[in-house]
Amino acid sequence: MTASPGPRVVLVGPMGAGKTTVAGLLARRWGLPVRDTDEDVETSAGKAISEIFVDDGEQHFRALERVAVARALADHRGVLALGGGSVLDPDTRSALRGHRVVFLKVGLTDAVKRVGLGVGRPLLLGNVRSRIKGLLDERLPIYQDVAVVTVETDGRTPDDVAAEVARRVEEAEDGVPVPSGEDPPGGRS
Ligand code: S3P
Repeated sequence: MTASPGPRVVLVGPMGAGKTTVAGLLARRWGLPVRDTDEDVETSAGKAISEIFVDDGEQHFRALERVAVARALADHRGVLALGGGSVLDPDTRSALRGHRVVFLKVGLTDAVKRVGLGVGRPLLLGNVRSRIKGLLDERLPIYQDVAVVTVETDGRTPDDVAAEVARRVEEAEDGVPVPSGEDPPGGRS
């Protein structure tokens, strides 16, 4: 894990991984500000993500998201949570290199439980379970590629997940190598 200017940690992962909740817990633990690119996009557009999808389309949302992520990586020194699909953008993937990116991994059952009816998440309209399954299958290799650490969240509380993320980041900052067995194939340490 390379120390770099920018956020202390960047959380990636699918909808239902708990990025926003865990980011808030980490920020409190470390006494740092928290930022979420979904909120930045909503602020810049002046409307909710579901409205951006309906009014302007997903491509427009992705363009706003790319700008929001680039800005947050440059400006923010606290805990940063990215929207689940932000890593689909090749520029965003390049921008993430050298940052402490932690993948919050979640399986289908827990993700479905956590998102409930998927209200406010336009990509889940229709059958939530099958939409999430498609997104998990398609995106897993991408999350593994951009992350330097993977933390399993299935069956765990946000507090427990946040404690593991904090420990892994603190160890990396102290120069303790991340055990390779715990990282995904293709992940960097
Ligand atoms: C999306 C995830 C959402 C939000 C948008 C699209 C995705 O963020 O950015 O609805 O493509 O996975 P969360 O992962 O924070 O729910």
